[in-house]
Amino acid sequence: MTVIRGHDVGEAARRLKAGQLVAFPTETVYGLGANALDEMAIQAVFEVKGRPSNHPVIVHVADARAVAAWARAVSTAAKKLMHAFWPGPLTLVLPKHPQVSPSITAGQDTVAIRCPAHPKAQQLLQAFAHITNKNAGVIAPSANRFGQVSPTTSDHVYAEFSKQKTHEIYLLEGASAQVGIESTILDLSQPKAMPRILRPGHIQPKEIAKVLGLKEDEVRFAFSEQRVAQAQDKTQFIPRVSASLKAHYAPSTPLKLFRRAQLNKMLDQAKGQRIAVVGCGPLNIENQVQHCEWLPAEPKTYATRLYETLRRLDEIGFDALWFEQPAQTNAWTAVNDRLLRAAAAF
Ligand code: TXA
Ligand code: MG
Repeated sequence: MTVIRGHDVGEAARRLKAGQLVAFPTETVYGLGANALDEMAIQAVFEVKGRPSNHPVIVHVADARAVAAWARAVSTAAKKLMHAFWPGPLTLVLPKHPQVSPSITAGQDTVAIRCPAHPKAQQLLQAFAHITNKNAGVIAPSANRFGQVSPTTSDHVYAEFSKQKTHEIYLLEGASAQVGIESTILDLSQPKAMPRILRPGHIQPKEIAKVLGLKEDEVRFAFSEQRVAQAQDKTQFIPRVSASLKAHYAPSTPLKLFRRAQLNKMLDQAKGQRIAVVGCGPLNIENQVQHCEWLPAEPKTYATRLYETLRRLDEIGFDALWFEQPAQTNAWTAVNDRLLRAAAAF
């Protein structure tokens, strides 16, 4: 047994202090945590995930006051955003403090920091800070094997790691992740440059722009799809965010994206194949394919249920998953980003 399930926050905090791994719920997805000052524990997280060392991880803190221990400069813009969105699903990339291990930052001069809102994550970070030091940090990548779909329930985490035998993981149980997709990552590390979104999420450019007194189109995404597709040698392309690898968040069943009109034309081809169709809103083609379901045509509710849907359908074992592509509007950017990457693996 290498995953121990439990509800004991104190036990989880003591394990972190002792250099052990703790998976815990956050409002975005479950994280696989370790003490950010314990090099062996950090290495264990990379090992268990099968994560390459050139993918930096996020430091999680209990509150904004702890940031000064991890970032060497905290700009006014950063302070405003922490005040507006923390605790919550926004990760800030800032110049790193000398105490931050290069294995956390993949040797970069910046560090990603987040303060999660989920009550269990908050309790854990506070309990850990209480028994170590007030500025304690916990590194926590999503609690899945590298490249797989992130977990939104404790059962997902158990399914990911129960078969690995190298490390014991304490799985702190809690309510499932409400946001359902990973945090928005905002790069604030270049003091003279405009902030850049490295990974789209629940918190949108227009909300960030409002807090910073900027125009909505001044808060841009750092990588366009085109730029990622054009990168010639993906292994040489050291990503600032692993989300910049096109194929990520992928189920093992081939996934394809279609507009609704295309989907209707494809139904003939679906005959005789085990296809699961997932609509963005009701589809009314139940009798024409092996399996049909739909997610609400509202981006935040859709995001909450996306990863659970991908994992469940993946497990059933269809020949293919056909997803209706949501509208290409700003509100859908984060969901479209995850769907495009899941589809890009095939
Ligand atoms: O919602 C979340 O952020 C979840 C929960 C558990 O907090 N965590 C998460 O971690 O998604 P992970 O490791 O799966 O994704 C972290 C992302 C990676 O894409 C990584 O490249 C990026 O953060 N990242 C970490 N440090 C960075 C840095 N210094 N500069 C740019 N990107 C960084
Ligand atoms: Mg991840």
